[in-house]
Amino acid sequence: MSKKHWIILCFLGLFILACKKDNPIKEEIEKFLGFQKPANFPQPAYNFANNPVTKEGFELGRALFYEPRLSRNNTITCGSCHIQSSAFTQHGHDVSHGIDDRLGTRNSPPIMNLAWNKAFMWGGGVYDLDLQPITPITTHEEMDENLENVLNKIRALPKYTGMFKSAFGTEEVTTARFMKALSQFMVMCVSSNSKYDKIMRKEAGAVFTADEQAGYVLFKDKCASCHAEPLFTDGSFRNNGLGISPVNDKGLYAVTLMETDKYKFKVPSLRNLQYTAPYMHDGRFLSLAGVLEHYNSEVQATPNLDPVLNQNGKPGIALNEDQKAKLTAFLNTLNDKEFINNKMLSEQ
Ligand code: HEC
Ligand code: HEC
Repeated sequence: MSKKHWIILCFLGLFILACKKDNPIKEEIEKFLGFQKPANFPQPAYNFANNPVTKEGFELGRALFYEPRLSRNNTITCGSCHIQSSAFTQHGHDVSHGIDDRLGTRNSPPIMNLAWNKAFMWGGGVYDLDLQPITPITTHEEMDENLENVLNKIRALPKYTGMFKSAFGTEEVTTARFMKALSQFMVMCVSSNSKYDKIMRKEAGAVFTADEQAGYVLFKDKCASCHAEPLFTDGSFRNNGLGISPVNDKGLYAVTLMETDKYKFKVPSLRNLQYTAPYMHDGRFLSLAGVLEHYNSEVQATPNLDPVLNQNGKPGIALNEDQKAKLTAFLNTLNDKEFINNKMLSEQ
């Protein structure tokens, strides 16, 4: 080979290396394994037989999740309110901010471990993940669009015709396919690599500090009846004594109209609290200290206050400063950096 050939070869080699380096996402995707149940998690509730996760379906779902054309004026994506670096919540906003800067009435919950979820929204009302996106798309304060327009905008984009074909066999853009693709993305948002998970799976080198261990014992005694391991929610709706909010959000009652459901909200997971402040359905607490003080001294006996929080004559869960510190240490073991940095789940 001549010198010129060698130089060309060298450049080609460097070019390939540069491409590889610039494209770690592509490498991640090549390793795509579909939905994997973490060893320390129970069987998921989502019906995978009806919508198996494929690489192509997941990639389409991800593109749609970050697609501004899902909103009336093409400015808001699902990812505007569900931001990965905040464990797919809208960090810094008590209630969600949507189209034209309109305010909602509730705090954006994380898109996390939803394959184990049976009821969606803070106050229930949606019981199938495949139907969930209709709400944000059509809500006046969120995306303020209608589904037919969204599908027409998607149909008009050449990028999507190919993606629908790879995911579902033909180019046809239907509501069912659109929803299934979004679900395929959302069920892949699994957070299961916190320190806690590694300890539960007995991974090498993973141990609690003395404070974390003491906090874990307190947690199991005082909190786990609602925030059940390993998802840190039992999926139920309960009144944890927040009192009546200024907008008088009645929670589950708004859906069932049953007196016994008044002021009940979905028990949220406690994973990734480091990234998801502010807390509660209306984002009223900016810090974990505020939440713990609520349980200690601010629980209000509104109708249907959970019996667990009304055991000792005085509503709430008494916590001294030492117990609060230990509980906080334990809760911090539930943060999962790998989840918020997982390139596979980012806007591409
Ligand atoms: C303007 C902000 C906003 C946008 C845009 C938005 N969401 Fe949400 N999302 C919220 C809020 C707020 C809630 C809680 C609503 C409630 O409880 O009533 C929520 C709830 C959810 C839930 C239920 C989670 C749970 O744990 O119950 C899912 C799933 C979800 N959104 C997915 C999506 C998808 C998919 C899109 C895009 C099609 C989207 N969201 C767009 C703010 C938003
Ligand atoms: C009786 C059931 C119950 C018990 C016991 C309970 N919680 Fe909760 N928790 C809830 C419910 C319900 C909510 C959501 C309430 C709302 O937003 O309206 C909640 C919300 C939270 C939140 C906010 C999470 C978020 O994403 O906004 C934190 C943090 C929390 N609880 C921690 C604790 C800790 C720590 C303990 C033990 C000291 C505890 N909880 C005990 C039911 C309970």
